Amino acid sequence: MRIGILNSGGDCPGLNAVIHGVVCAACKLGWEVVGFRDGFEGLLPPGDYTMLDPSRTVGITKLGGTILGTTNKGHFVAKVGEGKATTVPADVLEKAKATLRHLEIGALIVVGGDGSMTTALQLFREGIPVIGVPKSIDNDLASTAMTFGFMSAVASVVDALDRLHTTAESHKRVMVLEVMGRHAGWIALYGGVGGSADIILLPEIPFSMKRVADVINQRDAHGHHSTLIVVAEGAKFEAGGLVTKEKVGGQGEDRLGGIGERVALRAQELTGKEARECTLGHLQRGGPPTSLDRILALRFGVKAVQLIQDGKFGRMVSYQQYLVGDVSIEDAVSKLRLVEKDNELVMAARSVGISFGDETQ
Ligand code: F6P
Repeated sequence: MRIGILNSGGDCPGLNAVIHGVVCAACKLGWEVVGFRDGFEGLLPPGDYTMLDPSRTVGITKLGGTILGTTNKGHFVAKVGEGKATTVPADVLEKAKATLRHLEIGALIVVGGDGSMTTALQLFREGIPVIGVPKSIDNDLASTAMTFGFMSAVASVVDALDRLHTTAESHKRVMVLEVMGRHAGWIALYGGVGGSADIILLPEIPFSMKRVADVINQRDAHGHHSTLIVVAEGAKFEAGGLVTKEKVGGQGEDRLGGIGERVALRAQELTGKEARECTLGHLQRGGPPTSLDRILALRFGVKAVQLIQDGKFGRMVSYQQYLVGDVSIEDAVSKLRLVEKDNELVMAARSVGISFGDETQ
């Protein structure tokens, strides 16, 4: 038996741990593993790949990024953002099938987010035995309670907030930290609570800058002369829409960014207090995975091999109630997990005095 693995979409701490899990579990069964480079692009003839065995993957569990490379662009993009799925051109699918046939790949493991799972589903419908492994630092896939990479991103946010606290206090400033989170504000929520932010602004909870300014002023009146704000890049500014950056090149999702700067400027205008902005950007996506992310990712990799062994193709690995199980890819795609207003962590945050920039106390 020979199986293939590829990563697709943005990278994420833990991808290498998945690869190591897959390679070791497959090796134990006497299988060969082909690692395709740069996402689905590696499937284009003649195939861009490398043979993997435990001697190639030992020691990579602790490394961020992916030894295989990845891309969120290219010939196989089947979905951009929350948009409708499009069909990968038939000739591209045929080329991928030809490469897999030529290399005698018995099953293909696709590690990726919602867009990559949409492509994986199309490959499966074309008769390719596919297994999905969910990946997203944003943790916004409804069909799994947790994705690896998320907690590593949260750890970066908490570290950044710990640093911003001291400089904010010294200068009696408002500091705004912009973090990733395109559709869902999980990174901002967990990072903000873990890093003791005073205000957390999410895509899911509409906020007003007047309310944000009130909170800053109230804090000032109580002798807290600095305020720490965390804002998710996908939060919408006042009546406006998403704050985006100019996109370089035609393909891919809109580049988000800039909301933090706007929040800081407006906070300064409304309160008269000095405000500064800091964008964490890809610092929260790179670097080593946390120990829990390493473990979760390894388990996902091992589970993917088990699913192949059981012939459960068209399934995606899923983490539910502390156990790694599986769901159908068809059911998993296009379902985002968003922060609900009455989410338990949102309520707990409110209880300890964190504001979401809305009217609820
Ligand atoms: O989807 C994951 C994500 O980290 C988003 O939060 C962010 O908007 C996007 O990737 C950034 O992608 P890129 O590296 O292509 O700019």
